[in-house]
Amino acid sequence: MSEFKNERGSWGSRIGFLLAAAGSAIGLGNVWKFPYLCGEYGGAAFIVTYIIILVLVGFTIMLTELMIGRHSQKGPVGAYRAIKERWAWVGAIGILASYLILTYYSVIGGWIIKYIVSGITGNFNTTDVDALGGIFATFIGQPFEPLVYHAIFMILTLVIVMGGIQGGIEKASKIMMPALFVILFIVVIRAVTLPGASIGLEYMLKPDWSKFGLDVVVAALVQVFFSLSLGMGVIITYGSYLGKDEKLTTSAVQIPLMDSAAALLSAFAVLPAVFALGYNPSAGPGLLFITLPGVFAKMPMGSLFGVLFFIFVLFAALTSSISLLEAAVTYFVDEHKWQRKKAVIILGLVAFLIGVPSSLANGAFGDVTFINGMNFFDSMSFFAENILLPLSAFLLSIFVAWVWGTENAIKEATNNGTVNFGFSKVWIISIKYIAPIGIGFILLQSIMSLF
Ligand code: TRP
Repeated sequence: MSEFKNERGSWGSRIGFLLAAAGSAIGLGNVWKFPYLCGEYGGAAFIVTYIIILVLVGFTIMLTELMIGRHSQKGPVGAYRAIKERWAWVGAIGILASYLILTYYSVIGGWIIKYIVSGITGNFNTTDVDALGGIFATFIGQPFEPLVYHAIFMILTLVIVMGGIQGGIEKASKIMMPALFVILFIVVIRAVTLPGASIGLEYMLKPDWSKFGLDVVVAALVQVFFSLSLGMGVIITYGSYLGKDEKLTTSAVQIPLMDSAAALLSAFAVLPAVFALGYNPSAGPGLLFITLPGVFAKMPMGSLFGVLFFIFVLFAALTSSISLLEAAVTYFVDEHKWQRKKAVIILGLVAFLIGVPSSLANGAFGDVTFINGMNFFDSMSFFAENILLPLSAFLLSIFVAWVWGTENAIKEATNNGTVNFGFSKVWIISIKYIAPIGIGFILLQSIMSLF
């Protein structure tokens, strides 16, 4: 309980940190979004684009966030402030963004719990996609029931974060992450051995460049950021709980590797099965909730695999939502000296309330539009993911490249010159030019799409 006092706490072990950071990264972005983006943007062509952006920009920003977090041993606001007072507000943009994401992430997390419950009670029983679409639309369109599940998901998140860094987040991640990979492997093996899965495998492995275009690049970049939990202060926060002797470059490679592995495995769990059973791969966001239950209904022992799969998705979502909440909690604990418990309860409650209109937007409230004809849910996600996320990552790269300076940053990455940093030249070019230009371009795209 000592963490409830003033000390911030820290990771108990390197593996604990790694699993928590990978847990933050691996979430609905990997399991829900990545497979449907592959389905929409031409399978292998999207995967190749994604990997190129991941290597060029994702790795750079991941390392950079770890650098400034560990350097200052503070959450994002304190981290910027420790280096240059005037930049503290940039950290706040990140925290705001991750907090806003939490509000609707929890709504989707609630749907996952609902699907576990209905899987157990035998609802993966129809193979008719129209019927499944109806079931899904009816469920999320109701005013009340989705709110109950949204509340349950948020409470689970609160309980873990309340336990603090070691006792809560690290412990939960150490249990959930290995379980997640085991379940994922089981489902992938089932999926790729279904008769007819080879068409899906080919789609995933052979690039079809006919769908390639600017929209694919934009979607891939936003996805890299979202999936790696970048641009939101989360990795800065997690890095701030790291010891001074940890090797940051190793983590900056390992976290993206685990994240990509989870994304690819999820795509292999979902898409070949979708092809094998003759469903439409470009079903979009509904792929997970509409198409997949149909897939499970057609499989031998499908309801078992269905429930296992959705439990896996729940684990993935929870290890991400706790990181989304932790960024804001760290801020109030560090900067305003709140007790962790108080911060968690207040922030969790407010996040639940802001999530309510997002939940209702899938029903009657969906006709009320905010940004550019989008309902509340889509407006929130556009604002947080397409505007705030690239904005804060853009400012981060400018800040580190030109204000803090690459020399200071490299000193942090090499633990004052005691460990080597093989890719330092590549990192410098990326943080000074490739990352800000690439991210700035995407940001402009998003802003222009508003007019
Ligand atoms: N990365 C998570 C996912 O793939 C979502 C997430 C957690 C996130 N923390 C974040 C996204 C911080 C952006 C910023 O689902």
